[in-house]
Amino acid sequence: MSSSISRRNFFYRGVGLSAGTLMLRHFKVFGRPVGQGLPMIVTSHTNLTGQKALEAGWDVLQQGGSAVDAIEKAANIIEVDPEDTSVGYGGLPNEAGVVQLDASIMDGKTYNAGAVGCLENIKTPVSVARIVMERTDHIFLVGQGALQFAREWGFREENLLTEKARKIWLRWKENLNPDDDWGPPDHLRNRKNDQAYWEEFPEMENHHGTVNVLALDPQGNVAGLTTTSGLSFKIPGRVGDSPIIGAGLYVDNEVGAAGATGRGEDVIKSLASYYIVARMADGRTPQEACEDALNMIIRKYKKVNPDFYPSEKFVAINKSGEVGCATMRGRHNPKMSLMTPRGFSKYEGTIIHRT
Ligand code: GLY
Repeated sequence: MSSSISRRNFFYRGVGLSAGTLMLRHFKVFGRPVGQGLPMIVTSHTNLTGQKALEAGWDVLQQGGSAVDAIEKAANIIEVDPEDTSVGYGGLPNEAGVVQLDASIMDGKTYNAGAVGCLENIKTPVSVARIVMERTDHIFLVGQGALQFAREWGFREENLLTEKARKIWLRWKENLNPDDDWGPPDHLRNRKNDQAYWEEFPEMENHHGTVNVLALDPQGNVAGLTTTSGLSFKIPGRVGDSPIIGAGLYVDNEVGAAGATGRGEDVIKSLASYYIVARMADGRTPQEACEDALNMIIRKYKKVNPDFYPSEKFVAINKSGEVGCATMRGRHNPKMSLMTPRGFSKYEGTIIHRT
């Protein structure tokens, strides 16, 4: 089942779900007690791969698996998709043409977290982050150390730069500076073809795609992850918000989880995911908490820079199985994908400021 749910419709649907949750507390789902919440898995991705990812994660939950197992399985499907230029294999590279990945994972049950930054050559960085979380007493490994750690754990090294991503990167280089020597000489340049080329790669409009996956398992435990190739054409060594716990991701087993996509620098400065979870702890719904975070960022940053051009999108879930999603700009309301006992659906959130 696939459907689009407006925020208002979801509210009413949410009432139904909450009633369902209360009922389910007295029953067993998938042979196990439901615990405090609905089994649920969500992602910020809204394409077909996002749906397939949720179906895979749902299989794990359906078999009584943990939220951590479910989100990792789901995210790996998105990470290895060569067509996705925002995450894992096929992600857009840094300015030197090298794909450097960031990822984090957090387990609400243990409050443990793991993360990797600037990781090269490994298709599934979030699986490396999970091993950092579960098999070390550290939280965050970066660069060569993270790669060495991944090698030791048996991850296969591969070139992550696909032909598609390489072509996009080369075109970016050619258009960087009209006075440099990149790009064909004037007599070979065809502006019309240039235009067609750009239209072929709509990804160029979006330089900071990322994926969040959040889940609530049948035992009522919450987990979340964020994985990305980061800001495309970034300065080598740049780490975004995605692997920073509290910024690109936060999970609290008593409250819920939140994740961020968009320009990481703003999210790091505002510790936005932590802020969203803290707002939910104060009684705000996931939708209100996502909007609170955006309003907080806009209020502060517009003060110092009236031209502040925000791009963040936040997603959140709480322990009751409510969800939220909000962004700061765009032509269409932001969406997120959900898989619950009622099937697959998309939830439509809000835009705070149309710019
Ligand atoms: N949010 C992804 C990044 O800025 O790297």
